[in-house]
Amino acid sequence: MTKQIRLLILLGLAIIVCLIMILLAVNSFSSSPWQEWQTKYFQAQIAELQGKMSTIQGEEQKRNLAQEIKEWQEKKPTVQEIRLSNGRIERCTTCHLGIEEISVSHPIDSVGCTACHGGNPLSLDEKTAHEGMYGGGHPGQLESARLSCGGNSEVGQCHSGNREEADNQVDLLATALMASKGGELSMTRYMYGLDIPPKVLLKPGETAADIQAPFNHRPEEGKFQQNCLAVCHLTGGELPGQEVKANGCESCHVLSNPQHTYEGKDVTIPRSKPGYGISHRLTVQIPYTQCNQCHNQGEYKVDTMDFVPRHDLDRVKASPPPDQESLETRWQNVYSPGLVFTKCEVNLDCVDCHTREETMGDGEMYYSEWKALKIQCRDCHGSTVSKPIEWKVTEKSDTAWVEARINPVFPPLKMGDVILKTAKGEELEYARQEDGKWFSYRKTNGEKFYIPQVIGSQCQQDPDKQSSDDCHKCHDVSKDKPSSGGE
Ligand code: HEC
Ligand code: HEC
Ligand code: HEC
Ligand code: HEC
Ligand code: HEC
Ligand code: HEC
Ligand code: HEC
Repeated sequence: MTKQIRLLILLGLAIIVCLIMILLAVNSFSSSPWQEWQTKYFQAQIAELQGKMSTIQGEEQKRNLAQEIKEWQEKKPTVQEIRLSNGRIERCTTCHLGIEEISVSHPIDSVGCTACHGGNPLSLDEKTAHEGMYGGGHPGQLESARLSCGGNSEVGQCHSGNREEADNQVDLLATALMASKGGELSMTRYMYGLDIPPKVLLKPGETAADIQAPFNHRPEEGKFQQNCLAVCHLTGGELPGQEVKANGCESCHVLSNPQHTYEGKDVTIPRSKPGYGISHRLTVQIPYTQCNQCHNQGEYKVDTMDFVPRHDLDRVKASPPPDQESLETRWQNVYSPGLVFTKCEVNLDCVDCHTREETMGDGEMYYSEWKALKIQCRDCHGSTVSKPIEWKVTEKSDTAWVEARINPVFPPLKMGDVILKTAKGEELEYARQEDGKWFSYRKTNGEKFYIPQVIGSQCQQDPDKQSSDDCHKCHDVSKDKPSSGGE
């Protein structure tokens, strides 16, 4: 080989190396969107840690924090893969790196993402990855819940199609009044004389909005549809006074702030865009504020078919979340001004009395709220002639045994423990008998309340008059200020 040829080869190699380096450099400037999302996530972590730096003392802690920041600064975006137990691979977290684990019962490494969301798990392109997502990003919508929550070919049966009816929340919810507005439909028609006696007009899964002429073409028809039937549904109904739609299971199980904006760690979700929960979390610890997105927002006037929002709504929305608010604001916030209530109706949360069967349905279709209700005041307090119904838990197949495990703040339930059962047969796994006395554990934070009993007290009730209206005649505390108890 001549000297010139060797030189030429060397020159050629040098040119190739240069070209490769230029290509690499260009590539790192025009990174793909998923790399940008990861970089954004790293930067968010760094900013958060730097914010912490000024608040901590101690050289050692400062050094550790600085080291942690350095590690984030040196991180390079890489494709993220979740390998599920069935061998499937998912790459959604490549962009959604910061997303919270949805709940301990749905661990990220065995459930993944598409079991609930659908979509294309291998795609690294936003559009194709999201194609065909159940409910367009809101998997709990009643139209898609059958696949996303009920179960699909990938994950098998989840909240539908099980042997135990109580485990089929998706099927049960199709019969709940809150999902269908069947109660409003039947009772309003009854009040206007269209059906006497009132009757059930819907089949499971139907909603009042599906009915062509819910008001038999009477002049109020339009207003009835728009002001009553179209709001507050568990799917698609607009939440009162907000530009956000209710979304099926999420309406209760994904907690939201008054603006419905996301405050979690996934940087892809715009902070100011309404339509999200506070974070990517499912919970059964539902505070009253979640129910009050629809309830206690104002007054429905059946005679004019109008909804009149409560006049203090802005103040209510500006209040701190329930775990941080004062006793006084809680008393002002829970019920609309003008409603009457007893102390426990506001001290406790809605779900401490209103049970799963009331909120999610029991498989029956009802024509009114009153028919659907399971809980009565005397279920907890007894009457002058009766005590609450006791139920001893003796089998692991007992619903209460299973239920007690889902909420992390309940004290462990033991075999032989005595819990309370409603007159309509629903077990309250959080209302326990201890040393012959009844106590209730609050679902949101485990706080323990003694349940005072009517029997043996000075109560002047008529044992045959047990509706809350009857009790409120003497036990109305709605105008009292709470004794602030050293707050
Ligand atoms: C290339 C990046 C990328 C990938 C890959 C990706 N996403 Fe997204 N995703 C985004 C961005 C960006 C948004 C925010 C869109 C917006 O601004 O509304 C988003 C929003 C969402 C939302 C909220 C939808 C809504 O209505 O706002 C869901 C749910 C979601 N993604 C699920 C998934 C799932 C499941 C996968 C995997 C199958 C996935 N994503 C893969 C980038 C991605
Ligand atoms: C158990 C079911 C379930 C699983 C598993 C799940 N999600 Fe979600 N995801 C939901 C629900 C429910 C929402 C709330 C939708 C709404 O607010 O309407 C949601 C919302 C989202 C959003 C919008 C932001 C938010 O928090 O509202 C994104 C993004 C998202 N999921 C991505 C993912 C990714 C990525 C995975 C896998 C790591 C995943 N999800 C796993 C049920 C699930
Ligand atoms: C998305 C709106 C919405 C949310 C959120 C909501 N509700 Fe309702 N609720 C309704 C509507 C609408 C009705 C009346 C339905 C009818 O009569 O047709 C109703 C009726 C009820 C009833 C009486 C009928 C029945 O089914 O027992 C109870 C009790 C109740 N809600 C409790 C709750 C509790 C507890 C929560 C929170 C865990 C809650 N609701 C959250 C809209 C909602
Ligand atoms: C109107 C409010 C509301 C809606 C909507 C709702 N849930 Fe529930 N859910 C509850 C309440 C209240 C509980 C009981 C919590 C407790 O007793 O600690 C509960 C409990 C649960 C539990 C725990 C096990 C059990 O049955 O107690 C699961 C699982 C569940 N819901 C799934 C769903 C699914 C799936 C959907 C949608 C198809 C849904 N929920 C819609 C209010 C609701
Ligand atoms: C201390 C227990 C308790 C608490 C807390 C409670 N309720 Fe009730 N609620 C009841 C009882 C009991 C009834 C049935 C009334 C009767 O027997 O006359 C009822 C009836 C209802 C009804 C149907 C009757 C009506 O008022 O038109 C709705 C809707 C309702 N509650 C919603 C809620 C909401 C929303 C919350 C939370 C803001 C809540 N409740 C908090 C015990 C409670
Ligand atoms: C799930 C069980 C439960 C149900 C249902 C229930 N309560 Fe209570 N009640 C309690 C608990 C716990 C307390 C004690 C905590 C408190 O005072 O807030 C209490 C306290 C009371 C007190 C004494 C309050 C005081 O001023 O010291 C009265 C009166 C009362 N309830 C009436 C009612 C009426 C009326 C209803 C029906 C609308 C009702 N309760 C439904 C659990 C319940
Ligand atoms: C005619 C008035 C009157 C009616 C109606 C009434 N109560 Fe009472 N109740 C009282 C009085 C008075 C007391 C004893 C003073 C007190 O503790 O507030 C009392 C005490 C109680 C207590 C015990 C409180 C404690 O701290 O020991 C409970 C629980 C209670 N009532 C529940 C009810 C329920 C539930 C109803 C409806 C079914 C009801 N009451 C109807 C007047 C009434």
